[in-house]
Amino acid sequence: MRDRPRPSPTGSARSSAGAATTSTWSTSGDAAPGVVSYDAVIVGSSVHYGRHGKRVRRFVRDNRAALAARPTAFFQLSLASAEGSDDAVAEAAGYVEAFLEAVDWHPDRVAQFGGALRYSKYGFLRRLVMRRMVGDSFPEADPAGDTEFTDWDEVEAFANDVAAFVEGRLGAAPDAGADATDPAS
Ligand SMILES: Cc1cc2nc3c(=O)[nH]c(=O)nc-3n(C[C@H](O)[C@H](O)[C@H](O)COP(=O)(O)O)c2cc1C
Repeated sequence: MRDRPRPSPTGSARSSAGAATTSTWSTSGDAAPGVVSYDAVIVGSSVHYGRHGKRVRRFVRDNRAALAARPTAFFQLSLASAEGSDDAVAEAAGYVEAFLEAVDWHPDRVAQFGGALRYSKYGFLRRLVMRRMVGDSFPEADPAGDTEFTDWDEVEAFANDVAAFVEGRLGAAPDAGADATDPAS
């Protein structure tokens, strides 16, 4: 049994990008960027009802060759990882395994983080479903607000590990200030 990360108020992500030029893209926003413009790619997805987002799956499938040709990492957010029991840890690992097999992708680094319960953002039905589904496992979660279970130290360790791996693979730290979308840089 693992210690459950302490819930914390929702906060902003801490960046460990260092000198690397980075760019983030959300599946809920614009069209996916061209993977070929980047030295390395990190893909992240939450789990809903045992599955990862459709657009994330499509992104990986559509870019499989480009992803295979550069350093890549994948991270997952789920409540199974936040719950922390042996069964839940196995469940979280199962989500990752099923996803990577389905999209036929072999990222160099994989991480599983606890997600968040954001009751304040859910509609009536989703709030009801989530309370029924996980209310007993997370009695400390604010039933009207948001509770974040992400262990940011784990996230930082993952980011540092990925950065070191990418630097090792590329042979040097990416140039500070270089424009990753500019083929001349
Ligand atoms: C509708 C819904 C279904 C979910 N299903 C699962 C699940 O099957 N397994 C799990 O471990 N976590 C599940 N979660 C927890 C999410 O992975 C976690 O809350 C994550 O932080 C959600 O991030 P997002 O709302 O930004 O997608 C679910 C959350 C929601 C809102």
